[in-house]
Amino acid sequence: MPSDYEKQSYWHTRFASEKSFEWLIPSATFMDIIEPHLQQLPSSAAILHFGLGTSDLQNHLRKRGFTNITNADYEELAIEHGRQRELDAFGDVQMTYLVADATCLDMPERQFDLVVDKCAADAISCGGSDALLSAAQEIAKYLAPDGIWISLSYSASRFELPQLPFEVQVISRIPAPKLKPTDPDIYHYCYLLRPKRHPGSWEIPESSL
Ligand SMILES: C[S@@+](CC[C@H](N)C(=O)[O-])C[C@H]1O[C@@H](n2cnc3c(N)ncnc32)[C@H](O)[C@@H]1O
Repeated sequence: MPSDYEKQSYWHTRFASEKSFEWLIPSATFMDIIEPHLQQLPSSAAILHFGLGTSDLQNHLRKRGFTNITNADYEELAIEHGRQRELDAFGDVQMTYLVADATCLDMPERQFDLVVDKCAADAISCGGSDALLSAAQEIAKYLAPDGIWISLSYSASRFELPQLPFEVQVISRIPAPKLKPTDPDIYHYCYLLRPKRHPGSWEIPESSL
């Protein structure tokens, strides 16, 4: 990705004319991949979808039965378009839309059961590994104790970061479409991230024995 992808000004210019675009894979394909994890959640689950851009992923989540969804992006136009996409699809707006920078989330205190991003960690990482680490630390702060983060990326090494506060697992490797049959195999990666537990955190505190 060119380095401009971490700059809000890049997205502001782009979203002034772009109202609908899907990075890497269609939202329906992403939903199929994450379905086994959605099945573990009640329909009241709190979901944070960050870096929504002009994707329709939030509408797929609502159609799937979730409405306690916070859609966050640091670019105001993404938020405006997102709200409009929900209104166009459902005739009302039930989800929350928030202008917020994932590297320094300043949200009311709350805990999310699921955090999702589709190619937003990729954009953030254009600002360097410290930017992605900051976003990961912020997400960890807002996750419920059993909460998970699912991230779709074009990179096979997206989360190879020292000090990452998550255990990382690849749950799907999706072949990218080829322009010519002779093109090399390229994949996108769907990651499942679970907060690292501090050693001994599962133990019953001595004082309560
Ligand atoms: C590559 S686009 C992905 C858009 C959408 N998720 C999709 O799949 O089509 C990256 C998105 O992340 C947003 N973004 C980049 N850095 C961000 C940050 N630090 N905090 C919040 N959003 C960010 C951009 O505004 C843009 O909407």
